[in-house]
Amino acid sequence: MRLDVITLFPDFVAQCAAIGVIGRAQERGLLALHAWNPRDYATDAYRRVDERPFGGGPGMVMLIEPLRAALNAARAADAKPARTIYLSPQGVRLDQAKVVQLAQRERIILLCGRYEGVDERFLQHEVDEEISIGDYVLSGGELAAAVLIDAIGRLQDGALNDAQSAQQDSFSDGLLDCPHYTRPEQHALGAVPKVLMSGDHAKIAKWRRKQALGRTWQRRPDLLAKLKLNREDEKLLLEYQQDTKC
Ligand code: ADE
Repeated sequence: MRLDVITLFPDFVAQCAAIGVIGRAQERGLLALHAWNPRDYATDAYRRVDERPFGGGPGMVMLIEPLRAALNAARAADAKPARTIYLSPQGVRLDQAKVVQLAQRERIILLCGRYEGVDERFLQHEVDEEISIGDYVLSGGELAAAVLIDAIGRLQDGALNDAQSAQQDSFSDGLLDCPHYTRPEQHALGAVPKVLMSGDHAKIAKWRRKQALGRTWQRRPDLLAKLKLNREDEKLLLEYQQDTKC
């Protein structure tokens, strides 16, 4: 997959994507990241990329032309058509279903705003989609782009070492993840649940499912309300609810 990022802070985005799973995905050639700085496309002597807003008010607004030139350069750098996404608090809120959908694309261009935002005419004409990473305001789109790059990058085939781990992610089936334990079995902070030491894989899978259902019920009832549970899941959840009562 190819990701192009239009940003005034290309080094920041590159560094965020250089470590861990995403760094490895780039090394393995599963993900190619390219950054484009609108300042490099500013034509005036001061390399201006922003101006005061018409109508007054605080802050600055990003100019159309440097952004358009950077975007055109990014588009022209590869023949594959790209979807252009603007990161902003006004966008549709990101969730795992959206991440899975975007991860299947061959190419995406991410546009990061700064200051008060971007001239609306540019957004209207050049942007396909606006995405928010949550109901709070960041000082720019770069952190949001880094979030999206991470979430999309780890889903590329071969990015995760254990092929199963993306399937076991929280949200992949609409539920939160179950708890995890490792050595030592006995610790001053508590013991590992016995079932995990039993070697009985069917029993372990059932326990994990029950924990995932129970946690989602306790922590994110909104997610649970969206699901249609089968009989087995209903039974497991009821057991969990009864266990937590006593
Ligand atoms: N830019 C500023 N705040 C943002 C948010 N919450 N999501 C995406 N991009 C942003």
